[in-house]
Amino acid sequence: MHSSSLPRVLALVGMLAAFLLPATAAEASAPLRTHAAARGKFIGAALATSPLSGESSYRNIAATEFNQVTAENAMKWDSTEPSQGQFNFSGADAIVNFATQNSQQVHGHTLVWHQQTPGWVQGLGASAMRTAIQNHISGVVGRYADNPAVVSWDVVNEVFDDNGNMRTSFWYNTLGQSYIADAFRAARAADSNARLCINDYNVEGINAKSTAMYNLVSSLRQQGVPVDCVGFQGHLAIQYGFPNDLQQNLQRFADLGVQVRITELDIRMQMPRNSSKDSTQATYYRNVVNACNAVTACAGVTIWGFTDKYSWVPDTFSGEGAALIYDESYQQKPAYTAVHDALAGGTSTDTTPPSAPGTPASSNVTSNSATLTWAASTDSGGSGLAGYDVYREQGTNDTLLGRSTTASINLTGLTPSTKYQVYVRARDGAGNVSGNSAAATFTTTTGPVGGACTATPTVQTQWNTGYVVQPVTVTNGGSSAITGWTVTFTLPSGHTLTGSWNAAVTVSGQNVTARNANYNGNLGAGASTSFGFQVSRPSGDTQTPSSYTCA
Ligand code: G3I
Repeated sequence: MHSSSLPRVLALVGMLAAFLLPATAAEASAPLRTHAAARGKFIGAALATSPLSGESSYRNIAATEFNQVTAENAMKWDSTEPSQGQFNFSGADAIVNFATQNSQQVHGHTLVWHQQTPGWVQGLGASAMRTAIQNHISGVVGRYADNPAVVSWDVVNEVFDDNGNMRTSFWYNTLGQSYIADAFRAARAADSNARLCINDYNVEGINAKSTAMYNLVSSLRQQGVPVDCVGFQGHLAIQYGFPNDLQQNLQRFADLGVQVRITELDIRMQMPRNSSKDSTQATYYRNVVNACNAVTACAGVTIWGFTDKYSWVPDTFSGEGAALIYDESYQQKPAYTAVHDALAGGTSTDTTPPSAPGTPASSNVTSNSATLTWAASTDSGGSGLAGYDVYREQGTNDTLLGRSTTASINLTGLTPSTKYQVYVRARDGAGNVSGNSAAATFTTTTGPVGGACTATPTVQTQWNTGYVVQPVTVTNGGSSAITGWTVTFTLPSGHTLTGSWNAAVTVSGQNVTARNANYNGNLGAGASTSFGFQVSRPSGDTQTPSSYTCA
């Protein structure tokens, strides 16, 4: 502990009390932070220094709605140490002082990143660069080590590329992977109490990149490197789908013994806004907060800004925007209500269930899969539609076949030559469940005979310039065991395979051949396994491979 740590501990206790105490009496209409605190979580926002000093609407919302803040830019290397050894904390101090005045905790962002790092650092040789990291971390973390408001740091940021390989940044090219452990150790030396995080984007769902992160965190901790926390940025877009395995992914990291947090949440859309996009966006926000609520080790959710007036999105993604929970005039959007109600949880006043979904219609029925589509429900109770549950009717014991956030689902793992009678229910943000839709039936086709297999893809996540297909479920629908399988498919023109897992993959032109790995080739009759892959594609192209064959 620091020699001056007693006053710090006492101050921390006070802050914690302020953070947690409003627990019991949260009025339904209370601000976001009241409801978050009642759950022992934070709800935060990234703050920009210019509107913070210049605009009272910005300041008032920042102060009253959030119990955690992150500096959007003011604590980055180019702001805090623009020239070697010349530290400038004016912007960082402004944020920390604001947070202190408003009983908010501060997450320091970020110490070692390949962006917003001055040229003088990037040109250093290995030994000088190592020293520069030590000095920078000790200077920046050291400045706030005794400040009770500053409780955590993004020590390294975005160390992976989108394939889950180490990003070949100037850090990596000069120092190899060792810079990561060195940075964490330097941060621990500068502040023995702060929570030290690794942070990245496109790691919200289970995919090649998040699995690389999982393996790295696990191995660093085994080596005694002080990694306390993993940050999932959460830069999502409604047109690319929601990572439905977010909660499961957070939980697998939590099971490593680290804290998890959503660090930079924003959910963009193609402009212009309309009420349907706003409502999908609200559902996504609700789902993120619900996922964090459901994972004990999830400390909270930080939104990357709060008003559409100030957001990095339109500058980076042409034609996209409106990613935040307040509009450009500081009016609350449906996304605000969704976050509010998800945090308020049991205290919500919404007791009105959504309307029943339309009768599901089946299509693309194969021996082991089918697509169902139905007319969407509406929700008038205020908490908004959260998603749908699809059941198989089986007398008294109906089984849940799957869940979806949209009015459609791709069911996989079905049994060949079997009649399915199915219906759908809708859920809202307060947990109210609709009546059942009318039932529909479909019958899966006869499975292939004598060991043939089928491959059923799921596009897990997409972004402007790429996508992840996972799982590709490989099922032996035949009547006898197989000892190997080969799945082939064609990438649309201009698409490039950038990673794969759980299969041996070769590419010839646009033709991809995925053979079983040595551990997942043996499939008994009816058994399934899966593999996944990642592709980059030209910006604006929304295609994914359409037909898969399995032999
Ligand atoms: O401050 C200068 C201003 O003086 C100048 O006139 C103007 C001209 O372009 O630039 C201003 O700096 C901009 C800075 O934001 C402050 O607004 C930079 O150009 C711009 O590149 C910078 O963008 C930031 C971006 O990181 C840089 O990579 C965004 O605000 C910030 O939201 C974004 O945040 C990152 C996280 O740190 C890490 N994860 C991804 C996230 C989004 O990219």
